[in-house]
Amino acid sequence: MLSGFLPGDRIVYRRTFIECASRGASRPPYDRAVIASDLLLDAAERFGTPLYVYDAAELDAAVGRVRAAFGHARVSYAMKANSNLTVLRRLQARGIGFECVSLGELHRAREVGARGDDVLVNGPAKSAEEYTLGAALGATFIVDREEEVALLPPRSRALVRVNPALDVSTHDHLATGAAISKFGVRLDVAADVLAALRAAGHDARGLHVHIGSAIRDAADFERAFARLADLAPLTGPLEVLDVGGGWSLDADLHGIAARAREAASAFGAQVWVEPGRYLVAGAGALLTRVVGLKRTGRSFALIDAGMTELLRPMLYGAQHPVQALWSGADVQTYDLAGPACESGDLLARDVRLPEPHVGAVIAVGEAGAYGASMSSTYLTRSRPMEVLWDGEWSVIRRRETPQDLWATEV
Ligand SMILES: Cc1ncc(COP(=O)(O)O)c(C=O)c1O
Repeated sequence: MLSGFLPGDRIVYRRTFIECASRGASRPPYDRAVIASDLLLDAAERFGTPLYVYDAAELDAAVGRVRAAFGHARVSYAMKANSNLTVLRRLQARGIGFECVSLGELHRAREVGARGDDVLVNGPAKSAEEYTLGAALGATFIVDREEEVALLPPRSRALVRVNPALDVSTHDHLATGAAISKFGVRLDVAADVLAALRAAGHDARGLHVHIGSAIRDAADFERAFARLADLAPLTGPLEVLDVGGGWSLDADLHGIAARAREAASAFGAQVWVEPGRYLVAGAGALLTRVVGLKRTGRSFALIDAGMTELLRPMLYGAQHPVQALWSGADVQTYDLAGPACESGDLLARDVRLPEPHVGAVIAVGEAGAYGASMSSTYLTRSRPMEVLWDGEWSVIRRRETPQDLWATEV
């Protein structure tokens, strides 16, 4: 249960009881201080809600943790997690490149001046435009199916994504390395695809694996990396082993890095990684205000943010830590219901809150990844403003106007 807020406190997001329980009692609860709560209230007041707030220091700290574990490994941030240009530039200034999975993301990479090894092009069904822009940027393509060998621009640099055929500890929609998943080539053809790339004049640099997102059990990575290492006798030496991302926020990065280095050594390869969520999730919170209270068969706190601002609870059953930014004695259990005319539009269930009043501010934590980037204009709702705290607030994305939303229509 999360307690109320005392002015001047620093907010500490704690994983909800349900989330801790599902992780097993042996796991320590994860908590991390982020932006002081009085600052969050100030931001809600100044910029309005719903509002995404990011803490620059926490972004930098996440980069530091990745560097501490993976040393000089090339880090390609999966920009799908949060593709705000300010976030991209900040990561880029710390030596991080980008993994892009759409033409729009490639344009973002170009916009911030990324080139060469700082750009990876991924995706199961790349378009002609994506191949062309990727080649112009000198990117490395992640080949996801055999047919791509013939589709790549001449003399492309490429990795082959391998499907390790593993069931992993995450939501089905977040698992990408299962035998039934659409991603990657089968283990038994990976070496042939590398050979075909070379025969076609491409630079076959190595292998790639990404087993999914928010992986709970570190043993899943170990099993996946080991399956790739088993291919070494067939592939011979390789330049790169890209072990993807998918780390949960409390992941043992040093352990994952050690397993990655072991697997890479089988090929004499360097390790590349592609974290998304790990780098940005903890740095962001979604601020939302209470609009009213309602009781039907359950008790609801109606709030001004929902599925259009933060889709993860509806899409994956994701449980985000929730913090009330007020204090009070009468603590009750509420579901947090958004404003959309959709019955699945709930940001959290069974949240313990001190008696809410209209206008009270709630911080939904761990929302820096797949929050703003998945927000939508469904119901002609404007996507939220985004602000960054770096000793002062800066607006890094203005709130959309209704006119913005129909500007492309006739
Ligand atoms: C190929 C690939 N790499 C990296 C990532 C980043 O995953 P995460 O945000 O869980 O680290 C994804 C996410 O979907 C992905 O598909």
